[in-house]
Parts: sequence; C-alpha cells; structure tokens
Amino acid sequence: MSETAAPYGTGPQSSGKKTAHGSGTSASAIGRNRIRIHHLREMKQRGEKWAMLTAYEQYAAATFDEAGIPVLLVGDSASNNVYGNETSLPVTVDELVPLVRAVTRSVQRALVVADLPFGSYQASPEQAFHTAVRFMKEAGAAAVKLEGGLAMVRHVELLTTSGIPVMAHIGFTPQSEHNLGGYRVQGRGDAAQRIVDEALALEAAGAFALVMEMVPGDVAAQVTKELAIPTIGIGAGVHCDAQVLVWQDMAGLRTGRMPRFVKQYADVHGVLLEAASAFAADVAAGTFPGDEHTF
Ligand code: KIV
Repeated sequence: MSETAAPYGTGPQSSGKKTAHGSGTSASAIGRNRIRIHHLREMKQRGEKWAMLTAYEQYAAATFDEAGIPVLLVGDSASNNVYGNETSLPVTVDELVPLVRAVTRSVQRALVVADLPFGSYQASPEQAFHTAVRFMKEAGAAAVKLEGGLAMVRHVELLTTSGIPVMAHIGFTPQSEHNLGGYRVQGRGDAAQRIVDEALALEAAGAFALVMEMVPGDVAAQVTKELAIPTIGIGAGVHCDAQVLVWQDMAGLRTGRMPRFVKQYADVHGVLLEAASAFAADVAAGTFPGDEHTF
C-alpha cells in the first residue's frame, strides 16, 4: 500500500519525523504512510482486524501512534476521563477542540477522529456540519464521529457529501443514556433487526466506519458480515472488524469496577502511584535532588 506525498505540503501528521512503529498487523500491512479511510476498508477486505484507542493529549497519542494503532478517537469520553465529569454529557466543543489539536499535532500516521459532543449536532444536519468544520479547521481532525441511528442519516449524508468523513456509532450510545434507561445492552431479541437496519442506512448515507457499543455478539457479527465498511466493537464481541477501548481503561490508569467489555493490559495507576510516592519520599528525606541534578 503506498501513497504519494501530500499534494499541499506537509502538515503535522506527515512531518516525516522518524518513529519506531510497532510490528502489529495493521502497522505492517499499511507501512508507514498516514492512514486514510480507504486503508480501513481495504483491511476489512483482507480480513485484517485492527485496534482503535481513545487519546486526549500529546504523549499518549504519540505512544499509541508509535505502537501502530491506526485510528485514534478523541472521544467525548474526555468528559469523564479528562475533565472529571460523571458522564459524557457536559463536555463542550470548546473543551474538546484543544484536545483534538494536541492529538493531531502529536501523531505521524494515525487517523484522528473527533467525537461530536452532546448537543453539538443533533438539532440538524447543518448544526452537525458547522461543528464538524470547527474540528477540522481549528483542530486538524481527519474525520468526526456522531452517535445515533436512523435519525442521523441526513446528518451523515450532508457531512459526507461535504467532504467530511463520518464514523457512525449505534447500539448503546452514551449521550442518550437517560433516554435508554442507563447502561444497557441494545439489540437483544426483536430489537436486533433495528440495529441491522440502522447499520445499513448509515453505510448507505456514506459513513466510513461504524462503532457498535454493547450489542450482542451475534448481532454485531451479522452487521459486520452485511456491511462493506468496517465495524468497530466495544462490548460487541470478537467478530467486529476492529475493537476500541478508552485508553485509561485499557492501560489500567482508571481503577475500580470496569464494564465487562474492558480488558486491562497494564497497571499504569500502580506505576504512577509508586513513582509519585518514591519522589515524595526522596524529597522528604532530602535525597532528591542529588549532586547530579544540581547546577
Ligand atoms: O467517547 C468515546 O470514547 C467513545 C468510544 C469508547 C467508542 O465513543
């Protein structure tokens, strides 16, 4: 898979800085080029699964990019993972734009998707357009994500025909938590057909990928089979084309009770706790700074 040099000069994502990419399947399959939405569709055609992570700032974004994660989502989950809110509802466009800008400035290769926060797009396709344009112009996002099924079809159509790639998100949609009656699996029993219909309609409207959250594995598998665009699961089983986790959940920075769909791959909380405690102990004992740290 090769791509010619960017025709309009080099932006932050294609600055040519050297990065030691990991050797994951997606990294090796695509090489070192910037990830484009067509790469994701081609990976589905080749049967290659890939991982997406959230990112909200410089060092995490650069690290995940170095690991070969092809897509980074600046999620509205920043609300409860950066800004200390209980849910994703309070976060605003003005709060998310600087985070998206930090992430796009910090990656060489990953496709950066900006999540449209609650209240910034639902009112009309035009509202969605104006919000998406802010994320692309002010923050350098390559795509946006929005939550919702059939009600979002016209929004997706306007955005994609305007040149804005859209990642759709169905199943459990956290911005509708109050309407859905809390964190509940969506698409069980008779409701399965609605998930399939929504997925097909969003694909037809032009979405380039589809997140399915807390959907039964067999329903997600059926959707994945029926769509040409990649599906990205979070609590939707192994048959999705890709999987996404919030990075603080994945890396164990967040502690306590986790949703069933989370697997923790590290104990970053433990590492930071130990480091901060050791630093504080050294300062209290007068053993830091040493001569080697002193001018
Ligand atoms: O905001 C978010 O982090 C998300 C993903 C977990 C899908 O929407």
